[in-house]
Amino acid sequence: MKLLRTIANLGYGSRRDVTALIREGRVTDAQGDILYADDEPRHDDVRVDGEPLDPPAGLLLMLHKPVGTTCSTKDRGRLVHDLLPPRFARRSPQLSTIGRLDRDTSGLLLMTDDGALLHRIISPKSRLPKVYEATLAQPLCGDEGAIFASGTLMLESEKTPLLPAELEVLSPVRARLTLHEGRYHQVRRMFAAVGNHVDTLHRSRIGGLALDGLAEGAWRALGPEDRERLFS
Ligand code: URA
Repeated sequence: MKLLRTIANLGYGSRRDVTALIREGRVTDAQGDILYADDEPRHDDVRVDGEPLDPPAGLLLMLHKPVGTTCSTKDRGRLVHDLLPPRFARRSPQLSTIGRLDRDTSGLLLMTDDGALLHRIISPKSRLPKVYEATLAQPLCGDEGAIFASGTLMLESEKTPLLPAELEVLSPVRARLTLHEGRYHQVRRMFAAVGNHVDTLHRSRIGGLALDGLAEGAWRALGPEDRERLFS
């Protein structure tokens, strides 16, 4: 792809803005030689104002979502998109969240601009395990694990029972829950269905991927090894 289009698609500016950047000689190769609009250099050989280009299309990233941010692009208030560099909002193809976490849920959120990858991850067929840690308002009764594992639990206004899920009791009011699907507010609704209430909720893992010390509010691009771990 021609340099002008590559840089414009990454959100650095309109075609006109990027034309100006190139004319001003601010786009160079790694050696500092000026590049031109029609050049087709390797992505990792391009610098804008001396800085490497943002990751190319096909981006998959993980973000440590803080409580109080929303996964929508339109909501008022703090959005997860605001945690990324502002020009990411102008990328084409667009970056979307892979599934959602509620405003009051923290933890591991994936984002991508790759529609096929997004579909592969959220497809009901993928059954990719998602692990949540919940703090509960009431002590656990003891039968929740069996109910969640049964494959027969029906949530209000749903037409099919939930897939079996695994519960690990961490303390009388803390539990780790592994789901193999993603329904609306699923964890909160599951605990509500057994007469409890989720006070805090955090997602720690998707497939073989964990936050691994990524600070709250921080993000990082995922490479081929991370992708392999995701599906392992
Ligand atoms: N289940 C919930 O209830 N909330 C989330 O954010 C994710 C799963």
